[in-house]
Amino acid sequence: MNGRVTAMHIATESELAALRARYVPRGITSAHPITVDRARGSEIWDVSGKRYIDFAGGIGVMNVGHAHPRVMKAVHEQLEKATHTSFQVVHYESYLRLAQRLCEVAPIGGDNKAVLFSTGAEAIENAVKIARAATGRPAVISFRGAFHGRTLLTLSLTGSVQPYKQNFGPYAPEIYQTPFPYEYRGWNTDAALADLHNLLESEVSPNRVAAILIEPILGEGGFVPAPLDFMRKLRELTKQHGIMLIADEIQTGFGRTGKFFAIEHSGVEPDLVAVAKSLAAGFPLSGVVGRAEVMDAPDPGGLGGTYGGNPVACAAGLAVMDVMRDEKLPERAARIGSVVEERMRTWAAEREIIGDVRGLGAMVGMELVRDRKTREPADKETAKILAAAREKGLIILRCGVHHNVIRTLMPLTIPDEQLDEGLDILGATLGAPVN
Ligand SMILES: Cc1ncc(COP(=O)(O)O)c(C=O)c1O
Repeated sequence: MNGRVTAMHIATESELAALRARYVPRGITSAHPITVDRARGSEIWDVSGKRYIDFAGGIGVMNVGHAHPRVMKAVHEQLEKATHTSFQVVHYESYLRLAQRLCEVAPIGGDNKAVLFSTGAEAIENAVKIARAATGRPAVISFRGAFHGRTLLTLSLTGSVQPYKQNFGPYAPEIYQTPFPYEYRGWNTDAALADLHNLLESEVSPNRVAAILIEPILGEGGFVPAPLDFMRKLRELTKQHGIMLIADEIQTGFGRTGKFFAIEHSGVEPDLVAVAKSLAAGFPLSGVVGRAEVMDAPDPGGLGGTYGGNPVACAAGLAVMDVMRDEKLPERAARIGSVVEERMRTWAAEREIIGDVRGLGAMVGMELVRDRKTREPADKETAKILAAAREKGLIILRCGVHHNVIRTLMPLTIPDEQLDEGLDILGATLGAPVN
């Protein structure tokens, strides 16, 4: 690897691998050893020209698809005007309009307000700050298996050790964790609620709890939808004790589950919602939306960040909102979900390795096990299946505390033929039916 690499230099795969090994720490990994050249819609091409169907969507970010023309147009127009002023220096209309749109679509009745940031972790950090300011209480409860980000507060709230939390403590105080209602792994609604009550009796008094933070569907934790009844009971409990309910809709949000937000399936209204990922089609943008009186709890100057609500990202966000509405993407997600789930259930009937199929809308996962009785996680097998799928031209991710759940995060704009093509590849990599 001699010589300087300039913008004009076209590197070979092996040069790039060497650059990576030499200059990027091993702590940041890539699920697939592919060097992307370009991406459009639901397709990605690598630098050798090989085409892939994208069932990962940049980890649930590209719900409107790569380079959607309306998003690109809005971004180009904004690039000509201003790329950054910082909202904390001078404000701009796209931030204000996007805040308005988020308040309108948020699953919270009455008057809402919204504040914008750049990453999902920042949105969660700020939701916690707002909940603490609004209640004057310190404690926060989150769920085992949850993933809320990689900053120290959000890692403290994350309920999964490997690889996220390993070696990075000590973690923030006043964080308590309780089991998620993950029926396949032994916790139904009643058991999860009983453990939560236990926690509130034995470890932290409810009147010290500012917020309970929940992903309505565990994302990184294994694509586990919280039963609707659990969500309703959680809302009753939080109301009873004046605890803020924060919905982390960072992975579930923006149409993926068949409704704009996953929590809408339960009819539960949270106090605060954190959004990011598919909000701006790959431009870093996140936000917190909530009831106006809660959102106004922090003092002036208490919220912000140099880049939060960047104008280019806001322009993309507004275009995403229009695309979601005009192309009816939540409805499309429900249709994609039924196709994917039907295929997975057919495979599950024929292949022992599939222990469970679950999801909501187009957020569908299948949990792979070595033995259906013991439910021993088939983590290595899952890795092999993903690698084989990649060889055949499909990019797809896994998740789960045991790394044994194959999940679907394809763009919701994916054409039917490409959806079928991707599913055919996945089916072929699962091996031949055993009966
Ligand atoms: C549910 C959930 N919350 C928070 C985050 C953190 O978002 P970011 O990586 O943008 O900080 C993620 C990212 O995967 C997520 O899935």
